[in-house]
Amino acid sequence: MTIETNNLPLNQIILGDCIELLKSLPDECVDLVVSSPPYNLGKEYEAKKALEIYLEEQTSVLRECSRILKSTGSLFWQVGAFSDRGMLIPLDIRFFPILESCGLIPRNRIIWARQHGLHAQKKFSCRHETILWFTKSDNYTFNLDAIRVPQKYQNKKHYRGSRKGELSCNPNGKNPGDIWLFRNVKHNHEEQTIHPCQFPEDLVARIILATTHTGEIVFDPYMGSGTVAVVSQDYERFFIGAELENKYYHIALRRLSKKPDKNNYFPNLKTLRDYVETTGESINKFRFDVQVAKRPSERSKAKIYPEEYHLQSMEERLLYEETAFANSLRGEEIPVDPKLNGNGKKTKLADKKGEQIELNLWD
Ligand SMILES: C[S@@+](CC[C@H](N)C(=O)[O-])C[C@H]1O[C@@H](n2cnc3c(N)ncnc32)[C@H](O)[C@@H]1O
Repeated sequence: MTIETNNLPLNQIILGDCIELLKSLPDECVDLVVSSPPYNLGKEYEAKKALEIYLEEQTSVLRECSRILKSTGSLFWQVGAFSDRGMLIPLDIRFFPILESCGLIPRNRIIWARQHGLHAQKKFSCRHETILWFTKSDNYTFNLDAIRVPQKYQNKKHYRGSRKGELSCNPNGKNPGDIWLFRNVKHNHEEQTIHPCQFPEDLVARIILATTHTGEIVFDPYMGSGTVAVVSQDYERFFIGAELENKYYHIALRRLSKKPDKNNYFPNLKTLRDYVETTGESINKFRFDVQVAKRPSERSKAKIYPEEYHLQSMEERLLYEETAFANSLRGEEIPVDPKLNGNGKKTKLADKKGEQIELNLWD
């Protein structure tokens, strides 16, 4: 659906360069900018020069984003690290002063942690990227109630004083904090399209629900497969954005349409499952672009874990790794890895006497 309000291209993704779109938009017309910019920095330059040219281009885009942002608006910029022949520059360090120079005010530096990092031989493997949140003024939206997550000790009560016996924490949940662990949209993720670096929809939902209200306008200059548009549509916000590559632009339109193409294909498994759940049609009629199995599986048969599960399992994994390291430093016995199989099922291990012992985890 295309709606023209005040001549804004509402609910449209423009196929082309975002700087052209940005220049066509009036001052202070959007409520939220959220994006992950490209950072494959081109090989034709010497690396350092390429980085400086890239940052100059990004400065022009961010100046325009800041200009079109309403005075109550927010901007979220998700970046990783620039890596070249062993050198590593975390890009948020370079983006921070650029965003400040646009007159924006920092609110959070969110760590998007990953269970698995890229393998590295001569430095520590990278296990996180960052999301910088800046606002245009001190008068900004933060809907904490819309994005609360379960408390760690939900039933804990005051044990003395006037509130003795009452719950000591907010029963509606807690602030999710600034370490996020949404699963990367890769292998087996139902949202995966042919795009190599998609946002997880839940990550975008947290940002949109926290910083906008229904009917407000969300802008993404680098739409890619259209995740920001899809989530805006799902939560009744308007979207505007651009995408340079024809093939990603069409994926975004197919995700937004929520319907199969003429060959009964969907851009990803999620859109396919949503469609059959809504229409009641047989799942076996349809296929999706990145399908590996013979036929798509129903969502009810899939294991889908919430972010808290991944956070808890990462916390446990990191604790296990630090304990194993501490024990090895001290010459003490290294505890058994509780998840040797990596499939969440019982782990069979040989104990010291050569007998099989079983560990039962994640029950
Ligand atoms: C990191 S991806 C964004 C992925 C997106 N967040 C998603 O969920 O699919 C960056 C995208 O920016 C696009 N792009 C690169 N330069 C652009 C430009 N000047 N204007 C618009 N899009 C551009 C690339 O084609 C790529 O799809």
